[in-house]
Amino acid sequence: MKIGSLFAGVGGIELAFRNAGANILWANEMDSKAIVTYKYNFDSLMIHDDIKNVNFSQLDKIDILVGGFPCQAFSIAGHRKGFDDKRGAVFFEILRAIKELNFPKIVFLENVKNILSHEEGKTFERILKEFEELGYYIKYKVMNTAEYSEIPQNRERIYILAFKNKSEYERFIFPEKMSKKLHWRELIDNNHQDTSLYYSDKLKCFAMLNENMKNFNSIYQYRRVYVRENKVELCPTLTANMGTGGHNVPLILDNNKIRKLSTRECFAMQGFSKEFILPENLSKSSLYKQAGNSVSVPVIERIARNLLML
Ligand SMILES: C[S@@+](CC[C@H](N)C(=O)[O-])C[C@H]1O[C@@H](n2cnc3c(N)ncnc32)[C@H](O)[C@@H]1O
Repeated sequence: MKIGSLFAGVGGIELAFRNAGANILWANEMDSKAIVTYKYNFDSLMIHDDIKNVNFSQLDKIDILVGGFPCQAFSIAGHRKGFDDKRGAVFFEILRAIKELNFPKIVFLENVKNILSHEEGKTFERILKEFEELGYYIKYKVMNTAEYSEIPQNRERIYILAFKNKSEYERFIFPEKMSKKLHWRELIDNNHQDTSLYYSDKLKCFAMLNENMKNFNSIYQYRRVYVRENKVELCPTLTANMGTGGHNVPLILDNNKIRKLSTRECFAMQGFSKEFILPENLSKSSLYKQAGNSVSVPVIERIARNLLML
């Protein structure tokens, strides 16, 4: 199966499809830093441009078009403007790509769960209608990474599949929940040697963190003025604004010392293996952002395996 990718970021969706046995032909992304990471990990053609400038009719035809389109326009963290927001409008570029690619058999989209309730459901209705008008049959499911993979991250995302072929649409089933789960401690380096990850008692916030962070099994999140404990022993949802402004990066107790997760550990909480290269020439804040912006690879890999079996 040949794959083309939109809004590729570091290539989390591509990695999942490649692990499942698909062949990545090309990808589009406009963020040059995400592309640095992408190119370390994929040989496929990367079109470095705003999607609005891409002429898809010139690209090789594919079987599956994939993309996690920018979610800021739909997430509660954003401004809830939906299609009026410039970033929401890129949805219509996906429709243009589909037409110019002569209607791939399957379109796979990933987004935040809130897209379902945005504007009392009107945004999602519109998305469904646009796909139906192009002759696609849609299946979608909200899945939490912690329930549908071994990765202990609380991350609810909607996975949308559009099928050209009705019998493939009917045969496709989403993966079931699974009980096997890693503990987040299994995904981190205990006694991490990078001293820059540790919070010094000279920091202004240290006393507050020290007062509140008592549970060895919890992951905490520093939200500028307070620290939030994730009591269910899961990693909280990683977000794109991790690393900027020093908030939202998950915090843990490592040998009784307070530290944030490393960029590698954040990628591990999205299911990226150690073989995935994180470029040393990028800043840590770029890599935190890339991890938060990306996807839970094993969840998509399970979906991709079911698709590739059709
Ligand atoms: C939610 S992230 C997707 C991340 C990706 N799934 C991954 O695994 O890293 C959305 C991506 O869309 C890119 N993007 C946003 N607007 C774009 C546009 N107009 N043209 C091309 N890429 C765009 C952003 O730079 C960002 O990397």
